Amino acid sequence: MNGKNIIIGICGGIAAYKIPQLVRLLKKRGACVRVALTEGGTHFVSELALATVSEEPVYRKIFPPTGSDEMDFTRHISLGEWADALVIAPATANTLARLSAGLCDDMLAAVFITLRPAKPVLIFPAMDGQMFLSPSVQRNIATLSAQGCLVINPESGVLASGQCGVGRMPEPEAILAALEKALHCGEKRSLLYGKSVVVTAGPTREKIDGVRFISNYSSGKMGFAIARAAARRGAIVTLISGPVHLPSPPGVDRLDVESTAEMNAAAEGFFRSCDLFIGAAAVSDYRPATPYDGKMKKDDEHIELTLVKNPDILARFGRQKSEGQLAVGFALETQTGLENARKKLVDKNLDLIVFNFFDRKTSGFDVDTNILTLIGSDGVTVELPQLSKDDAAERVLDAIEELCPKTGSNP
Ligand SMILES: Cc1cc2nc3c(=O)[nH]c(=O)nc-3n(C[C@H](O)[C@H](O)[C@H](O)COP(=O)(O)O)c2cc1C
Repeated sequence: MNGKNIIIGICGGIAAYKIPQLVRLLKKRGACVRVALTEGGTHFVSELALATVSEEPVYRKIFPPTGSDEMDFTRHISLGEWADALVIAPATANTLARLSAGLCDDMLAAVFITLRPAKPVLIFPAMDGQMFLSPSVQRNIATLSAQGCLVINPESGVLASGQCGVGRMPEPEAILAALEKALHCGEKRSLLYGKSVVVTAGPTREKIDGVRFISNYSSGKMGFAIARAAARRGAIVTLISGPVHLPSPPGVDRLDVESTAEMNAAAEGFFRSCDLFIGAAAVSDYRPATPYDGKMKKDDEHIELTLVKNPDILARFGRQKSEGQLAVGFALETQTGLENARKKLVDKNLDLIVFNFFDRKTSGFDVDTNILTLIGSDGVTVELPQLSKDDAAERVLDAIEELCPKTGSNP
C-alpha cells in the first residue's frame, strides 16, 4: 500500500463507526488516505475523528460553503484523478441507488464518476438483511458490478437491529485485505479472466409425488461463494442452482433448476464450450423410479419406493472433457473420507477434488464456514483451516489457477 492514494467513501450506515480504524490501518501501511463523507455519514462518524486519523480534510459537498476561502473549484474532478482506488464502506442502499443512476450530488459521487477507468472501486454494502435482499438494492448492485465495481457482499451475523441475517460490513482488516488484493490484481490479471466457468450449486429435489420430494440439507452457500469469487476474478460465470434461498452473486448468469435431470440438461449445454466446470451442487444420486401423480394416500402400512440412479453430471463432464478444460468436484463425507475423495478424483477424471468434512457446526451444509482439503490430480494434498465460505472459495480458485501451468491448460 506504500505510496498509494486511497479515497474512502463513507455513507450513512451504522457501520461507519468502524472506518476510522480502517483509515489507521491504511496509514500504517504507508497509504495516503482521503475521506469523502456523505451527508448521511455525518450522523454516524465524526468529521473531526476522520480528519485527525487521515491527516487530511474531509470532503463532503461539491460546493464550498458561502464565505469559505476555498479556491480549488475543480476539486470534484481532481480528487477522482488523484486516487489509485476508491473504497465505499459502508455503502448504503441510498448511495448504491445514486451511484448506479449516475448522480453527482456530493463529493463521494463525484469521485466515483471521475475515477480513472482501470482504478479499482470496492463497494461494501451494509444494511438490514431485508433491505439488502430487496429487488431495488440487488438491481443496483448488479448494475454497479456490471460496470466493473467489486461489490463485496455483506457478512451474516447479528445486525444493528438486533436481528440475525445478512447485512454486516466486514471488519476493517478484511476490507484492507480485499483492497490489497484488488490493487495487486490490477497489476497481475487472474488466469480466470475472460474464461467461461460453470458452477453447479445447492441441492436437487427428486419428486416422490405431487407434493413430496427427496432432497438434502445443502444451502448452496459454497457454490454461490465460488461463483461470486470467480466473477470477481473476471470470469464469465454461469451458476446452475438447485432450490436455495440466496441472492444471485453480482455479475453472474444464473439458471435455476429443480431435479438432477434438469441440472444435467442445463449443464450439458456448456460441456463443450466451458473452460472450467465446478460441481459444487449436492445432487441426489437416486430418484424415485415412477413418481406418483398427485398426492399419495396413507392407506398402506408399508410402501416401497424404488429408486433409480441419476446421471453423474460431473463424471460425464470429466470423462468427455477435452484438453484445456478443467473439472473440479466436491466430496462431502461424514467420516474421514480422503480415500473416497481420491477415488472419486480418479473415477471421474477430475483435475481437483475438494474434500469437505461434514460436522454440521463448522463445516458442510448450511453453515457459513468450511474445513476443506484440496486434492490435485498430481496427488498434492492441501489442508485448509476453518474458513468462511467466501475465503474458502478464494483458496479453491487459487488452487485451480495453480493447476493451469501443470496441466498445460489455461482455463
Ligand atoms: C439509525 C439509522 C441507521 C441506519 N443504518 C443504515 C444502514 O446500515 N444501511 C443503509 O443502507 N441505510 C441505513 N440508514 C438509512 C440511511 O442513513 C439513509 O438512507 C440516508 O439517506 C443515507 O444517506 P447516504 O447514502 O447519502 O449516506 C440508517 C438510518 C438510521 C436512522
